[in-house]
Amino acid sequence: MNKIVLLNIQELLQVRQMPTQPLRGEEFTKLPKITNAYLVLCDNEVERFGEMSELNPDVLRDSEVIDATGRLVFPAFCDSHTHAVFASPRESELVDKIKGLSYQEIAASGGGILNSAKKVQQMSEEDLFLQSLEKVEQIIQGGTGALEIKSGYGLTLKDELKMLRVISRLKAHVDIPIKATFLAAHAIPAEFERDKEAFMDEVVHRWIPKVLEEGLADYVDLFCETGYFDAGDVQAVAQAIQGTPLKLKVHVNQFTAIQGIEAAVKNKAITVDHLEVLDHQDLVALKLGETIATVLPACSFYLNIPFSPVKELIKEGIPISLASDFNPGSSPSSNMFFVWSLACIKMKLTPEQALNALTVNSAFAMGLEATHGALFKGYRGKIIVTNKVPSLAYLPYAFGTNHIHQILN
Ligand code: NIG
Ligand code: FE
Repeated sequence: MNKIVLLNIQELLQVRQMPTQPLRGEEFTKLPKITNAYLVLCDNEVERFGEMSELNPDVLRDSEVIDATGRLVFPAFCDSHTHAVFASPRESELVDKIKGLSYQEIAASGGGILNSAKKVQQMSEEDLFLQSLEKVEQIIQGGTGALEIKSGYGLTLKDELKMLRVISRLKAHVDIPIKATFLAAHAIPAEFERDKEAFMDEVVHRWIPKVLEEGLADYVDLFCETGYFDAGDVQAVAQAIQGTPLKLKVHVNQFTAIQGIEAAVKNKAITVDHLEVLDHQDLVALKLGETIATVLPACSFYLNIPFSPVKELIKEGIPISLASDFNPGSSPSSNMFFVWSLACIKMKLTPEQALNALTVNSAFAMGLEATHGALFKGYRGKIIVTNKVPSLAYLPYAFGTNHIHQILN
């Protein structure tokens, strides 16, 4: 039996019973914690925790003891929205942006998603896997303990399957859970340029059935946006997965509100992601449904677009999760501490609310709430031990700083 005991923890955060529902309203603002705490891990599983004053000294026998004086300890982040499998970065687009081009203009001039797709199409599955494995290992070192990865840079059935197989192999190679999302309709491929309907027909009648047959995905996603796909396409994809194990996620309201949220909520989407623009109708739909709003502040930061108006979502009692959107075109960083900083500095979430959105609610956003996102007896996920810091608020405050001292498990 391998026993680890952490002593004198300045604050042990996110300790709660396994939550049964995403946090919203008043609950979302509260972060349960124990000051001056101990934590016992037995064979990588949380066995117990409490105040130092209640520690039974017998626990220390035959244990590895870690003195956590001045440190904060909390469950690893859950990153429920990434495009971490891609062939090459697109740093030249940063220079285009500096020269004044917009995301849409860059895409129209040969950059964007179609450019990433060309690179994935040209790369062998083995190379794509090896490169992605390195990325995922870095993501884990950054404090992420559960990860969702989307396809969507294949844009042919063959290359989408290649991406999904890479994600499957990643699942088997790392010690954190990975959820695979088939991003079926991410952009209209060049060969369907003037016929989006024919492409959607292909996705709905050939691609989704094939992905289902091969059991390669947990979720299906699409990019509901002006110039890409619309609310009718959300409906068509939802219909195609009805009665199957696949669940719906939707990229929506990044630049424009085109009734995609309503269609997603109506079709019981697990999450709607982006939400940089929101109209009244969107808020009403979210309020009446069960869908989680996943917001992506690193994308707003990099593209210089508005940050999602999360205050309005909170006011309406809509559950919020935070994710990195790590991808080469709109969020080239997987750093969840930076997402935390942006959530506080730019979106005005409190440090406590933001941590709830980065852990508990993001675990719900990927169906991992029974095992990840909060420290409860039996938790087996990764645990972050920070550098010595004065208080919780220091973590989002000192943005761009490495705060990790150690990752346990
Ligand atoms: O989530 N919005 C669509 N998809 C990605 C960006 C993809 C890209 O530019 O390569 C996103 O922001
Ligand atoms: Fe995305």
